[in-house]
Amino acid sequence: MEGYKTVKASQTTLTELMIPSYSNFGGKIHGGLILSLMDKVAYVCAAKHADGYCITASIDVVNFLEPVEVGELLSLMASVNYVGRTSIVIGIRVISENLKTQVIKHTNTSYFTMVAMGDDHKPREVPGLILKSQDDIRRFAQAMKRKKRKAIIAKEEEAMHAGFDDVSCREELLEERCVLEV
Ligand SMILES: CC(C)(COP(=O)(O)OP(=O)(O)OC[C@H]1O[C@@H](n2cnc3c(N)ncnc32)[C@H](O)[C@@H]1OP(=O)(O)O)[C@@H](O)C(=O)NCCC(=O)NCCS
Repeated sequence: MEGYKTVKASQTTLTELMIPSYSNFGGKIHGGLILSLMDKVAYVCAAKHADGYCITASIDVVNFLEPVEVGELLSLMASVNYVGRTSIVIGIRVISENLKTQVIKHTNTSYFTMVAMGDDHKPREVPGLILKSQDDIRRFAQAMKRKKRKAIIAKEEEAMHAGFDDVSCREELLEERCVLEV
């Protein structure tokens, strides 16, 4: 179908061995390294769908569910979940495999919104998405809901900044573990 692509056409998996130089002071793999790999696989998946350069517009919450150990094989699986006019939401599932025991852990899942950019440095239209499975439909519908929820949260955040009330805030802080010295 002209102007539309399947999810499969841009599905991407990035696999990387976790070497000692990726670890933090606690001996576990640095969260920042995992984030960087997530951004990389999101880029490849988005660029494949858009047939060109994309930028990261936003990253949803990333919870680190399990620590990743040195020597494990990290696999980041990315697929297009949703497309807008110029934006593409990439869902990423990260798993880590212990090569000795073959035990596999689910370490992260997140959603990256990438925007396709034209040569004029302006957002450009991306192909639509052909949904060929129940999973494709579920992911698309859930991404739509997430987008609406994010818009509501953004408005609440704006209102919170605009309507900051020092007096009522101080009352709420009395129940928290802080001491007011001003
Ligand atoms: C992302 C960026 C291009 C959006 O520019 P803009 O002037 O707001 O453009 P538009 O309003 O036309 O938005 C373009 C698309 O991005 C989406 N978008 C913009 N900001 C977004 C955000 N924070 N989260 C999710 N989507 C976003 C819009 O919804 C729109 O999607 P649609 O066309 O599918 O409806 C601009 O904010 C930017 O350049 N940001 C910096 C990106 C960057 O440096 N990333 C890190 C390095 S890659």
